[in-house]
Amino acid sequence: MAVVNPASLIRMAFEHHYAIAAYNVDSVDMAMAVVRGGEAAKVPILLQVTVDTLNAWGWERITQMVYSLGSSSEIPIGLHLDHCKVIEDIFRAIDLGFTSVMYDGSTLEMELNIQNTLKVVDYARLHNVMVEAELGHVGREGEPPEWQSVTSVEEASEFYAQTRVDCLAVAIGTQHGKKIGEDNIRFDRIRDIRRDVAVPLVLHGSSGVSNDILCKLVPFGISKVNIGTELRTIWWQRLLENQTRKPREALSLMCQAIMDYVNEKSQLLSHPVN
Ligand code: 13P
Ligand code: ZN
Repeated sequence: MAVVNPASLIRMAFEHHYAIAAYNVDSVDMAMAVVRGGEAAKVPILLQVTVDTLNAWGWERITQMVYSLGSSSEIPIGLHLDHCKVIEDIFRAIDLGFTSVMYDGSTLEMELNIQNTLKVVDYARLHNVMVEAELGHVGREGEPPEWQSVTSVEEASEFYAQTRVDCLAVAIGTQHGKKIGEDNIRFDRIRDIRRDVAVPLVLHGSSGVSNDILCKLVPFGISKVNIGTELRTIWWQRLLENQTRKPREALSLMCQAIMDYVNEKSQLLSHPVN
């Protein structure tokens, strides 16, 4: 298999009411374990990284490493740039071979978000790269609370009509890195967005969202599910539990735990039952 533009895979998931998971990875070992988890589940996955991770490890190196994983993997893999606010960084990732990018203009006025997203869409179309944008804002700890805003149906409709992005991240009550109960989720809002806008939707902040809620959200058009914190938590827990073992043994147990998690989560999302 190979590293592919995941747009058609995500569109297919949208049309057939299932979802593909996108996993945030911080290291080579973790990326390898995620791919093996996807292989066990026999479903495509996206590996996603941020500009901070690329700056820490090297943009070329990470890209080459993922292409190397892709060339020997049994499943298609998307290489996705997550939450990027700087257009030049997005162009750099596309030039290097990323097959999917997210322009995050979610804290800007909508007009500026549209203008910037369009610049990314134009460049991405030339290079066969998927584009995700965000409307409304999925918050995270440490941010000004006033940034948090639920996606408006009218704005989502207008945004999609103007940009024609491949998928749209919506804010419907989740938060990055936080456990969320069913009461926080705006099922009413996602239902209205789904009714008016025919674009695959992306759930950010999916860690701490129960499998039950995830399965309820997928039929409303959630076709890409972003998972970061839960992977990191498993990774660190296993490291702490096994720190007296030989490094090779500890690493093997950490990778196995990631593989098991990815296998289970990817299978669940590919056949959501509610
Ligand atoms: P979590 O860390 O809450 O899983 O969110 C991941 C995410 O949205 C990455 O874009
Ligand atoms: Zn996110």
